[in-house]
Amino acid sequence: MNTLILSGSVSENSRSFLLCKAVEKQLLSKGNTITFVDARKIPMNPAHREITDEMQQLAEQVKQADNIIIGMGVHCYSVNDALKILLDACFSDATGKFFGVLCAAGGERSYLSTMHLTQICMNEWRMIQLPRIVFATEKDFAEDIITSAEVLERIKLFSEEFHAIGRKLLA
Ligand SMILES: Cc1cc2nc3c(=O)[nH]c(=O)nc-3n(C[C@H](O)[C@H](O)[C@H](O)COP(=O)(O)O)c2cc1C
Repeated sequence: MNTLILSGSVSENSRSFLLCKAVEKQLLSKGNTITFVDARKIPMNPAHREITDEMQQLAEQVKQADNIIIGMGVHCYSVNDALKILLDACFSDATGKFFGVLCAAGGERSYLSTMHLTQICMNEWRMIQLPRIVFATEKDFAEDIITSAEVLERIKLFSEEFHAIGRKLLA
């Protein structure tokens, strides 16, 4: 099973990136093939401007993937800006694919912000979401380590379910 993990934050000390890395580790141990894309390494232009080579490459990786895991930071109770640019420009071949969401926010009251990503993926590309997200806030981390037992448990459950359902959808 070929899983694309797109870490969509460009912040230097991205916490959603740490969630993506933790899920990558779990899925690799289950035998998944992972393509890991870090948005910080993608020079990007917004819609109506020229698409960069790296954005074009991401569009191809989206096309090739069996399924996709998206890491997002919460900005103004919605998806972070860079991720929105990548969704707009690079996801045209994501139609019908299974996907999962990993989210970092500043505060616990923002947990419904992931619904904007759900809406985008379901309404625009009829993607099918794993009905479990991983949501974490500042207090769940110490520097670049995930310290919350609850978040670590959710990462494990998310990975198990994503792997099991992802495989069934391919069968
Ligand atoms: C422009 C901006 C807007 C933000 N808006 C929210 C918000 O509405 N709710 C919230 O809980 N956190 C908000 N935050 C905090 C981020 O969600 C938090 O820093 C999170 O760790 C970002 O993910 P990242 O570390 O992967 O970049 C905002 C941060 C920025 C920079």
